[in-house]
Amino acid sequence: MIGYGVATSAFQVEGGVDAHGRGPSTWDEFCTRPGAIKDGSDASIACDSYHRFDEDLELLVGLGVSAYRFSISWPRVQPTGSGPTNAAGLDYYDAIVDRLLANGIRPFPTLFHWDLPLALEEAGGWPARDTALRFAEYADLVVSRLGDRVGTWATMNEPWCTAFLGFAAGVFAPGIREPKLAFDAAHHLLLGHALAAEAMHARDAAHEVGIVLNLNTVRAEPEADAQAVAVVEAIQNGIWLDPLALGSYPDAVLVPRALHDGDLELIRGSADWVGINYYTPFRVGAPLADEAGVGQQAEAFPGAPPFSFRPRGPLTTMGWEIDPTGLEELIRDVSERMPGTPLRVTENGAAFADTTADDRDRIDYLSAHLAVVERLHADGLDLRDYFAWSLLDNFEWAEGYTQTFGLVAIEPGTLRRQPKASYRWYADYIAAHR
Ligand code: FCB
Repeated sequence: MIGYGVATSAFQVEGGVDAHGRGPSTWDEFCTRPGAIKDGSDASIACDSYHRFDEDLELLVGLGVSAYRFSISWPRVQPTGSGPTNAAGLDYYDAIVDRLLANGIRPFPTLFHWDLPLALEEAGGWPARDTALRFAEYADLVVSRLGDRVGTWATMNEPWCTAFLGFAAGVFAPGIREPKLAFDAAHHLLLGHALAAEAMHARDAAHEVGIVLNLNTVRAEPEADAQAVAVVEAIQNGIWLDPLALGSYPDAVLVPRALHDGDLELIRGSADWVGINYYTPFRVGAPLADEAGVGQQAEAFPGAPPFSFRPRGPLTTMGWEIDPTGLEELIRDVSERMPGTPLRVTENGAAFADTTADDRDRIDYLSAHLAVVERLHADGLDLRDYFAWSLLDNFEWAEGYTQTFGLVAIEPGTLRRQPKASYRWYADYIAAHR
């Protein structure tokens, strides 16, 4: 049976950035940089879910979800990323877990969804090996508190974004453009995942510890440079899947300078399950000098000969091509590359400039992608959950509040939750399929 859920992340919905001892994160700092966030906004209030979990819970119950994917804010739990725990932070997530369970909803936490404690960023961040060690300690302290009630865990969300948008393209925190650091960060994110999994399993071998990846179906246009296609595929998919499945890095990428003897042995086999976040395929074509934005994203693929992304319509407001066949290809591909590993769709959804009363385009998007999931599940693939992104319109990173992915809108000013047509549609879908 497939579990149907919705997903959010701490930084994007919580707000309450100074509440009860939370420390600053790298994203709080990034938001203060002129030009970093499209609408000049920040996440200091966001959806105010830190103070309004009651309202969010009511929405979850109304949807009838079997699971809620949320993330735990490291700087709320451990304000400087090492050393003392902030009791109020752990209490907050403890209460969320209890309240979800009391309502028959499985808590599905992610330990790191990009909000690194600023003190660790200043000490070198993910390019520094120490961050991976600190992450394992933080994972251990969370599991020691919540592990009696939570059995399935995601360590990292989309390490590609942290490593390559953060350190190569520089469009995400910490906004650095030094590709070698991106490869070091990638390695330490994988290492951090593996060390955390080891620590969590040492507490209880029954914990199912997975990693959430934004893998992509990579499609080559006829005129695309084959090497560019290979590098995009390797940085998007192989750099994560190959170490986890095979214990090696793909040939098309730089082997991280950060690699130590024994690391790959630790990483190999460390994912009890793999989460796939899928929004769009990547269509790789010849370079187009005049297309602003396209070139910028290409910087997230260091070592690739010149190329451009050539999405074909229909597009979402993110400029992302809508193509559910990409999800099918991707899931089949990952299940071959990671045989025997359970898979989950941990995010899927779309941003549209829609109205609350009529977001038919979002309903069409979700139903087409859910149909793929149902079909693959019926075909016998070990596909366990599907999470729609997102419960709420929220802080969409460098896009600020300009992109709306939610099943529920947030009224500016009052922050009142306003369910969209897609919310009611998904509730009906879940009721019919559960
Ligand atoms: C993913 C992120 C998530 C959200 C969606 C739209 O890359 O994991 O936080 O921003 O994209």
